[in-house]
Amino acid sequence: MRSLIDILDLSVEEIDELIHTADDIISHPEKYSEVCKGKKIATLFYEPSTRTRLSFEAAMLELGGSVIGFSGAQNSSAAKGESVADTAKVVSCYADIIAMRHPKEGAPYVASINASIPVINAGDGGHNHPTQTLADLYTIYREKGEIKDLTVGFCGDLKFGRTVHSLINALARYTGIRFVLISPEELAIPEYVKTDLLDPKGIPYTETTDLEAVMPELDVLYMTRVQKERFFNEEDYLRLKDSYILEPKKLKNAKEDLVIMHPLPRVNEISVAIDDDPRACYFKQVLYGKYMRMALIMKLLKEAQA
Ligand code: NCD
Repeated sequence: MRSLIDILDLSVEEIDELIHTADDIISHPEKYSEVCKGKKIATLFYEPSTRTRLSFEAAMLELGGSVIGFSGAQNSSAAKGESVADTAKVVSCYADIIAMRHPKEGAPYVASINASIPVINAGDGGHNHPTQTLADLYTIYREKGEIKDLTVGFCGDLKFGRTVHSLINALARYTGIRFVLISPEELAIPEYVKTDLLDPKGIPYTETTDLEAVMPELDVLYMTRVQKERFFNEEDYLRLKDSYILEPKKLKNAKEDLVIMHPLPRVNEISVAIDDDPRACYFKQVLYGKYMRMALIMKLLKEAQA
């Protein structure tokens, strides 16, 4: 059974296909309004979410399907001690596809090997978030025309940010991508990203603490929230949370066609004064995410039937 646990579970060609399907959904939504009629998605969210859960639900509803699920471990049998493996087996009796978010790294994988239906990882701890990556790749494609020859800056919590880890993994397969990794030293990108991915593939990257100094180089700026829930102590969080606040004056030397992204929710990382700047793409990113999730649900359900 085909699931999506890691963005690398999809080839670059498959991601291209999803992008083309998303384009077609935008152009001809009526063609897709009944393709999942009679099908159900179960959204099993053991961690808070607004966008990702509602995006999966909206995606399935727009495909003519329906939705079941829960939005908090306290409302599920996890509170009674049920394992993820058992929950996956149970939900396989009710639904056709699962989207799961869990605070523990690997939980959606455990679900996928126990379920008899496809499982989509909707975020596992500080690990991966492949459908956010689909939203991010599609945003870059829509704004830049292609995913190629770009300097991409990641700014904020590069240590715990699962969206960052997934997107770096994905972008490392495209040509001419260069990374600029901007963070406080304590929240730097994990060593393994450099030693296992960037260095062996010879992908150029620089690390810095100074956002303004690198601003003129960037084609894409991916801002992130400091991941409060993954800190061991409140003091460190309070000290680091406002390390980077993007304000209009910091864009003074930015490119005219910079693409400013953020997976959201934002706390203080981007001033609302930026929202009307044509370079601000974070709300478009939300919309694009829904179309990519529609494309993904269709693909996985089709393969499950074959
Ligand atoms: C992200 C996540 O959950 O990792 N949110 C999202 O799904 N769009 C980013 C975050 O919470 O900071």
